[in-house]
Amino acid sequence: MSEDQLVYLNGDYLPLPQAKVSVLDRGFLFGDGVYEVIPCYRGKPFRLQHHFARLAQSLLAIGLDNPHSQAQWRVIMRRLLAQYPDQDRTLYLQITRGSSGRRELAIPEDMVPTVFAMSSPLKQADPAVASRGIAVVTLEDIRWQLCNIKTINILANQLLRQRARDMGCDEAILIRDGYALEGSSSNLFIVQRGMLITPPPGPHLLPGVTRDLVLELAAAEGTARLEAAIPLAQLRQADEIWLTSSSREIMPVTRLDGEAVANGLPGPIYRQTANLYQARKASWQAEASW
Ligand SMILES: Cc1ncc(COP(=O)(O)O)c(C=O)c1O
Repeated sequence: MSEDQLVYLNGDYLPLPQAKVSVLDRGFLFGDGVYEVIPCYRGKPFRLQHHFARLAQSLLAIGLDNPHSQAQWRVIMRRLLAQYPDQDRTLYLQITRGSSGRRELAIPEDMVPTVFAMSSPLKQADPAVASRGIAVVTLEDIRWQLCNIKTINILANQLLRQRARDMGCDEAILIRDGYALEGSSSNLFIVQRGMLITPPPGPHLLPGVTRDLVLELAAAEGTARLEAAIPLAQLRQADEIWLTSSSREIMPVTRLDGEAVANGLPGPIYRQTANLYQARKASWQAEASW
């Protein structure tokens, strides 16, 4: 992150080092806030309406009003992206409940939210991921009961990701009550006998924007697909396993808990879907600007 980068904070555009919030902000004290991460290709946000819709859901779930209309968000986003017109970036939007001037758990009336937005470089996909896949480990899901909210309070996700890293893996697949749900920051798909399966939306996973797009692409292609719970035993027998997220797109998993997934190589339905995904991005990029 460069120091002259402009970020948005509560109505102002400031160089990053000058953007400061109160230590009594409830986001800082309690993780009381929500966020979105939107991938932007050459200055254009991908699947923006889906990200706006999820942001609205997250805000509703924690009882915060959306501080901006979509038109206002767009003004902010354009200004942040305009600094890097030719780059692929992610936009990070965060709204916390703000500060009441003291630390108290109950939510005071008339809070003024803290609104923050910045862009960051979007890492180019590593070609080795598409050709070799990634290694993951299954870990017990230690998160709470409202994983469908994109809250900034992601301490458990962070600890789980770090445990995976410490074990030499790229991601953790989280297991709750014997079922595989999602990654620490990604959604889960498996392929079994040609059927694409992903766990259904619910309180124990984030409704991923990329997950929706993968289901949409599979539907358009006529790929057999199913939203169904995935027992750990079924995960271990899968022909293909993928993880999806806005910044890392579709990642084929080729090692699970130290064992090869099927023949240990990214599978044919992954390759087909990854191609469809890139084709969708290319046709969207060619459309009129946003
Ligand atoms: C827990 C979790 N699940 C799934 C996802 C994938 O969501 P999306 O495709 O919208 O990036 C994320 C993204 O950060 C996440 O944190």
